[in-house]
Amino acid sequence: MTTTEAPTTCSTVSAADLPLTIFEKSKTGRRGVRPPPAEVPDVDPASVLPKHALRADLAELPEVGELDAMRHYTALSTLNFAISNAFYPLGSCTMKYNPLVNERVAALPGFGPLHPMQSDDQAQGALELFWRLEKILASIAGLDAVSLHPTAGAHGELTALMCMRKYLDENGGAHKKVILIPDSAHGTNPASCTMTGFTTRELKSNARGRVDMDSLEAVLGDDVAGLMITNPSTLGLFEPNIKLICEKIHGVGGLVYMDGANMNAILGRTRPGDFGVDVMHYNLHKTFSQPHGGGGPGAGPIAVTSKLAPYLPVPKVEKDGDRFRIVRSAEHSIGTTRGFLGNFGVVVRSYTYIRSLGDEGLKRVADNAVLNANYLRAKLGKSYRVWVDESCMHEFVATAKGLPNGIKATDIAKRLIDYGIHPPTIYFPLIVPEALMVEPTETESKETLDNFVRAMEAIRAECDDDPEMLKHAPHTRSIGRPDEVAAVKNPRVIV
Ligand SMILES: Cc1ncc(COP(=O)(O)O)c(C=O)c1O
Repeated sequence: MTTTEAPTTCSTVSAADLPLTIFEKSKTGRRGVRPPPAEVPDVDPASVLPKHALRADLAELPEVGELDAMRHYTALSTLNFAISNAFYPLGSCTMKYNPLVNERVAALPGFGPLHPMQSDDQAQGALELFWRLEKILASIAGLDAVSLHPTAGAHGELTALMCMRKYLDENGGAHKKVILIPDSAHGTNPASCTMTGFTTRELKSNARGRVDMDSLEAVLGDDVAGLMITNPSTLGLFEPNIKLICEKIHGVGGLVYMDGANMNAILGRTRPGDFGVDVMHYNLHKTFSQPHGGGGPGAGPIAVTSKLAPYLPVPKVEKDGDRFRIVRSAEHSIGTTRGFLGNFGVVVRSYTYIRSLGDEGLKRVADNAVLNANYLRAKLGKSYRVWVDESCMHEFVATAKGLPNGIKATDIAKRLIDYGIHPPTIYFPLIVPEALMVEPTETESKETLDNFVRAMEAIRAECDDDPEMLKHAPHTRSIGRPDEVAAVKNPRVIV
């Protein structure tokens, strides 16, 4: 479909076209596979299993032919939108291409079938890989030590805040309870603070979307345990005062936490440790590529300065001569925040991604992420209002506020689906009304970006010419505008 020819009615698809489940397709007696006759005698289950483990009825399994099963699952696999289908400009979530070499390496016989209970001796290669990735992530961050434990960004936040709490408690800061958080922050930031027992105080952004230095001065005090800042922010803006801000937080005995979900914008170009950050998390599944979305898999390693290093979780990998071993306890450690060492498959993929790009390649990631975002910002700025219209980092935020005929961000997002493009993040960050947050990522070509611009321009024209059609988009899907709350609470899962 070309971008200027998206359908405007939904005559071809209706809710009745929803695929049947494999159970609804089942026909008694139909078989996909007929196993060869058993070469061992039948055993009566009642003679070997206790009574409570015996079935009263036969299992209700679907009965379909092999071809039907194949078509069923192939069709299901195309229902979800994925980065491998088309453009996916989801702001702050970095949906970039995941090079296939990562999958090849993660599936190697020494990695794929490894069991977490194997002894250190049997898993030397895997332990070395953990150790190496820790060192690489520490050097990219400009910090001293890394834990690969956390399973997601939010889990990284929680783990890091636990380390901060313990460090403060053991170093005369037990009375420090307040974490400052800019109003553009991701919701996980205040949630993690609350879960760790901190209270949060909001920092206002100024008109340029940066931390308002007067608001910061006004809230600084001895009760401040730290600052949690996302840099570049969710507005796609680098904080120019970051060094000064860190100094001010350190001046009251606080620690600076950086949410590093947007690290792809600064890889190899600047290091959080160099501008004063004490602790940060990475989102491996964003910055270092990883098929994610829909809840996983991910990893949110944390990097810390040497003073916080003793508090990192256990178990951890240590190098002993030329051997690697798992250390299961450490005097000051916060303890264990998940089973085993970390999400190993994710660790292997990220290691592969980093090593295949090298230092120069990582810099190009950041440069192209910034270039692509600014290209789109300049192009789309002609038809949409960009909230802070100045040079951005990896993403920018436009607003649908003020569009004619009551068109909202959700209408633009839904209509993009008809053009074969995944909608950007909408209604976030909360400080931008009717927000449309666009992150093209570094992996998209100019042609893909131009195609997106054409679609967005066509939609902008539709705001004037056919607003009612827009308000009922999408017109190419079996479901257009579900009751999103009901869909979450009462999902119809197709298997
Ligand atoms: C800025 C920011 N911080 C934190 C998170 C949380 O990361 P995760 O979804 O891996 O828990 C996100 C996720 O979208 C994010 O964009």
